[in-house]
Amino acid sequence: MHHSALLNVMIGAARKAARTLKRDFGEVENLQVSLKGPGDFVSAADRRAEETLYAELIKARPGYGFLGEEGGMREGADKSHRWIVDPLDGTTNFLHGIPHFAISVALEREGVIVAGLVYNPIAEEMFIAEKGKGAFMNEHRIRVAGRKHLADTVIACSLPHPNRGGIARDRKETALMQDQVAALRRLGSAALDLAWVAAGRLDGYWEHNIKPWDIAAGLILVREAGGYIADGKGGDDMFGTNSVVAGNETMQKELLRVLRAAEKL
Ligand code: IPD
Ligand code: CA
Ligand code: CA
Repeated sequence: MHHSALLNVMIGAARKAARTLKRDFGEVENLQVSLKGPGDFVSAADRRAEETLYAELIKARPGYGFLGEEGGMREGADKSHRWIVDPLDGTTNFLHGIPHFAISVALEREGVIVAGLVYNPIAEEMFIAEKGKGAFMNEHRIRVAGRKHLADTVIACSLPHPNRGGIARDRKETALMQDQVAALRRLGSAALDLAWVAAGRLDGYWEHNIKPWDIAAGLILVREAGGYIADGKGGDDMFGTNSVVAGNETMQKELLRVLRAAEKL
């Protein structure tokens, strides 16, 4: 399959970072792990992967800014472009030897996400999308699921650590959602949750307290797969509100309806 030069840059960087990440995953017990905050661990593998991504992406596009989970914002001369990167999304899974984690890379141009990549190096599944060009997994076109009834759906949620704040709201939402769907799933990687919504494996996903690097690549995957994405209030400020609700057009509305109902509990 022919990719644009931009996607080739992103794919090359992700594959390079994935090589060390995979090796580190194999030696997960030996990793030096430090406590970054409640429920949020950072590992040596994480930082190494971010440095590889930074080096590769900036080599290919000197001047672009770079927002990474580990290193924060590194400004570039070109203020209209920035990479938004999570080198390891699914850290808790990684540390526990659960092979469900991903590298997430997005490019933002003038405040709009124009390309995204989410790569699970263990499953060898690479999800990519570019604005206006559709979404793909390992070269195959992907589409969001078509289900129209909440009762038939599998929905991903977040089950956050209580120290993260907002736990009372999260519990109400999860309880109400559980009553109305076929199954709830807490898979542990926001980037993959969105990629899986794009691929039609999940019918929907919502989460609060989420950061731009968790969702930037996933946003464009969902949209380019024909899905809908909003913040927790149904607006378009996912980065500002740190919340996200995704699914097909019907499911996204249904999830927002349940979240509104949960507010009244
Ligand atoms: C986390 C994962 C998780 C989500 C958390 C994120 P990390 O990212 O995406 O699924 O529930 O909100 O912080 O810490 O593994 O990069
Ligand atoms: Ca993350
Ligand atoms: Ca991370």
